Amino acid sequence: MFTLHWKPVRTSALPIYKQIADLIKGKIETGEWPVGSKLPTERALAQELGVNRSTVVAAYAELSAEGLIEGKSGRGTVITNNTWTLLAAAPPPDWNAYVHAGAHQPNLPAIREINQAEFIPGIIRLGTGELSPELFPKEKMQSVLRRLIAQIDALGYEEPKGLLRLREQVSRYLLGKGIEASPDSILIVSGSLQALQLISVGLLHRGSTILLEKPSYLYSIHVFQSAGMELYGLPIEQDYQDFLRRLTDVKKLKNAALLYTIPSFHNPTGRVMSEENRRKLLSVCERERLPVIEDDVYGDLWIDTSPPPPLKAYDKTGSVLYTGSLSKTVSAGLRIGWIVGPVPVIDRLADIKMQTDYGSSSLSQWVAAEWLESGVYEEHVQEVRKQLRKRRELALIVLHKYFNDIACWEKSGGGFYIWLKIKADISPEKLFAKALEEGILLNPGNIYDRNDRQHMRISYAYAKPAELEEGLYRLSKIIREIKS
Ligand SMILES: Cc1ncc(COP(=O)(O)O)c(C=O)c1O
Repeated sequence: MFTLHWKPVRTSALPIYKQIADLIKGKIETGEWPVGSKLPTERALAQELGVNRSTVVAAYAELSAEGLIEGKSGRGTVITNNTWTLLAAAPPPDWNAYVHAGAHQPNLPAIREINQAEFIPGIIRLGTGELSPELFPKEKMQSVLRRLIAQIDALGYEEPKGLLRLREQVSRYLLGKGIEASPDSILIVSGSLQALQLISVGLLHRGSTILLEKPSYLYSIHVFQSAGMELYGLPIEQDYQDFLRRLTDVKKLKNAALLYTIPSFHNPTGRVMSEENRRKLLSVCERERLPVIEDDVYGDLWIDTSPPPPLKAYDKTGSVLYTGSLSKTVSAGLRIGWIVGPVPVIDRLADIKMQTDYGSSSLSQWVAAEWLESGVYEEHVQEVRKQLRKRRELALIVLHKYFNDIACWEKSGGGFYIWLKIKADISPEKLFAKALEEGILLNPGNIYDRNDRQHMRISYAYAKPAELEEGLYRLSKIIREIKS
């Protein structure tokens, strides 16, 4: 979706609609916005630029009169010509045909809209899966960086599995969770999302089926589908009993290649799989020879009690590929995560990673190593837990105040999320659009389960406390309005 990153000059003698038309004409002329592309809707552009919709309508009318754009029924407003195609005999390449030809599937439209809207100034982000900038450990990061200045002699390409010092630190850190993993069985990745990407292209055949919890974070991305795989979700309830009961049958029925699970502070439900269920799950998977990806990015963020040890801690047969990351605890922008597994698997994934990006940022790897080695990580995580506790308490109080009669929810024991269930059936698209108009950005449930029409993922980690309260209040009003 196009954005302008520009604001009209209100003091200019040139009318605002003309400024907008000229700017878009420039984008079309230079080929930055190619023929065949869709322009933003009048509503979206008016919102982005902070102008009346009628101003955008006038700008589009001018471009249309010049033959550059056309309103197409059902497709919005499309660029039909650039000044070259109007003048020249040889048209430029049709970039839109290329854009639709790539193997990777596009993101879900809702996710693309969220990714854009996150940067609208003043927007209240009620669903964002990231720590608030308020919780960024600025002083700790400064002292880590200062110490590193004296230590770093070079920032070259690192070993295929990543900086040895970091892998040693990850190995030590994982021992604290009961996972015995030598540095040789650890691959440093650019966020745990990359671990999923490497698995999808490095270990699985096209046409394979991946089992997973429903709802799940995995439905919000297309890593496996883009590699030609299918997802098969098994609904999870609070106690996982049905999920576990059905697992064996579904594995056989679908000839599934792998199970993806988030046992601690599940995204989006916030649930924790009990120790007993973890053991049951692992024994089913071992019996059925079903490898597991255990995604543990939220495992350190417990608020009440620490979750049971990860599946990987019980894994004596090498069935589990375990992923973790600094994204949810320290900083997502570092893009540092890890995957642990049998050495031949890690070697294979490291080889693909070398072919993909020659390794994660060397600087980020040094930073991550120093965070873990110096003990600052543990200190910081304790502080994050305290802050998350305060934020969760606030969210629960506010939900109780404004949502008691229109929704229900479970109290989360850690992580970032409350899986809010609206009692009425409301169109997620309508709710998302209406909330956006009112300056609130939501993560509707259908991102995590295509058929969901009742849930919303509320994150208490991102918005400032006052915004969280205000945003939830406004959301409750919107839901009441739409319902009535
Ligand atoms: C369950 C889960 N796994 C993985 C990721 C990706 O995290 P990273 O930044 O480490 O790639 C996220 C981010 O939202 C997540 O919620």
